[in-house]
Amino acid sequence: MFAIRLTTTADEAATWVVPVGPDGPASASAASAASAGEPNAAALDAETAALVAQTTGAAQAGQVTVLPRPLNRPARVLLTGTGDGDEAGWRAAGAAAVRAAAADEVLEVRLPADAGQAALRSLAEGIWLGGYRYRDAPKAPRSGEVRIITGTPESYEQSLTQAQITARATWLARDLTNTPSSVKNPEWFAGQVVAAAAERTGVTVTVRSGDELARFGGLLAVGGGSESPPRFVELSWQPAGARTHVVLVGKGITFDTGGISIKPRDGMKLMKKDMGGAAAVVAAALGAADLNLPVRITALTPLAENAVSGSAFRPGDVITHYDGSTSENTNSDAEGRIVLADALAYAAETLRPDLVLNLATLTGANAVALGKRTAALYSPDDDLAAALTEAGAAAGERMWRLPLADDYVENLRSDIADRVSAPAGPGSVMAALFLRDFFGDTRWAHLDMSAPSWAEADDLDLSKGATGWGARTLLRYLAALSASPS
Ligand code: BES
Ligand code: MN
Ligand code: ZN
Repeated sequence: MFAIRLTTTADEAATWVVPVGPDGPASASAASAASAGEPNAAALDAETAALVAQTTGAAQAGQVTVLPRPLNRPARVLLTGTGDGDEAGWRAAGAAAVRAAAADEVLEVRLPADAGQAALRSLAEGIWLGGYRYRDAPKAPRSGEVRIITGTPESYEQSLTQAQITARATWLARDLTNTPSSVKNPEWFAGQVVAAAAERTGVTVTVRSGDELARFGGLLAVGGGSESPPRFVELSWQPAGARTHVVLVGKGITFDTGGISIKPRDGMKLMKKDMGGAAAVVAAALGAADLNLPVRITALTPLAENAVSGSAFRPGDVITHYDGSTSENTNSDAEGRIVLADALAYAAETLRPDLVLNLATLTGANAVALGKRTAALYSPDDDLAAALTEAGAAAGERMWRLPLADDYVENLRSDIADRVSAPAGPGSVMAALFLRDFFGDTRWAHLDMSAPSWAEADDLDLSKGATGWGARTLLRYLAALSASPS
């Protein structure tokens, strides 16, 4: 990750980023707080303010207006709109400014004197998230530093650290998800988790494979068609004195062909992203450790490739899950719920957590119902649903609660097993109903994040490609939970 620094001293040659808020030209106050040391500071402020006043639309969130060089200084000025001045506005401003700059350009953000900690945090998150580049991309990464000029750097240090940990978690989730499936098989993903854990104290990982998966009948069935056998990763952050234990479960299909129920060409194109849930829960658990949150967290990721071959599981096969219950496979493309069932049953039986949160790129129906940026949220618990929605809204990830409606629950019935895997009915709801059985009596929520896991183009704090959806929401939620455990 490139550096963002808080500093009191301006640099003559650096490009100015002047935030413009809802109250019009904030630049005058910004500059007066920050241009100490500039020759002609007052004249510069006045000229900048005059230019801002003539520039229409400059305050819109994420809009950048490039000004000519005031007073013939060497550097240019990027007027950057912060919209309503809320967290989303500041994130948009940060992302837009970094995109408007060349990779080696040094940016100096003139922070208004009245900017709060949430503003700074969001600004920095936006800069890092908008400046994200896939780690194996051929393009050179950002090399120019970003300086935030303020009279009181100490008051923002904690917010900058929070932003950095959040952005680093999101970068990790994006990198894992952007990695091609020729590289990213279950063993590789598990190795990435082990390596990330080894960089931290207090984080441990167990990777199960082969015979150790004997009770994970769903994972073995789904992974059975691949040359790359399945793995089950259990990552644990267990700080002393933690009173709450949260289990995070993430779908980790490293590529989804649909199996024997093979997908059409277009539907398969992006299926390297089908482990976005696993990436998000791992990244969030590591981020929680980096934040030293006083909550116990276990992240579970069932990892398998849903491939087509002579050893692939078939429609009509009956699968025995970790809890001994059975599912009749009625569509090999409904593989996510089958591997998640084992993970959820494992959590309920062996970990006995206070709360289980499940994240999965589970159904195409998520996008049919809610469009491209909104996850579907399911939970029987109103308080939990509200808290997650609020955490997501603050973090910049939207979700919308859908009902666990029993309208078509009878379609889950099977003649030869406890349930079928792909019942007729509204797709995202039916998948949630399928999973419901496996949470036991624990508080739970399930997020179907198929749609928001991918951005087809750069869009504010999202960079084209994997979005890392979920890492930010989970970190916010876990931080809030740590502050006031309920
Ligand atoms: N991984 C897909 C869901 C998906 C679709 C994620 C598009 C992201 C974008 C999942 O395994 C799947 O294939 N679901 C089926 C379920 C159906 C067979 C019951 C679907 O949504 O069509
Ligand atoms: Mn599928
Ligand atoms: Zn899938």
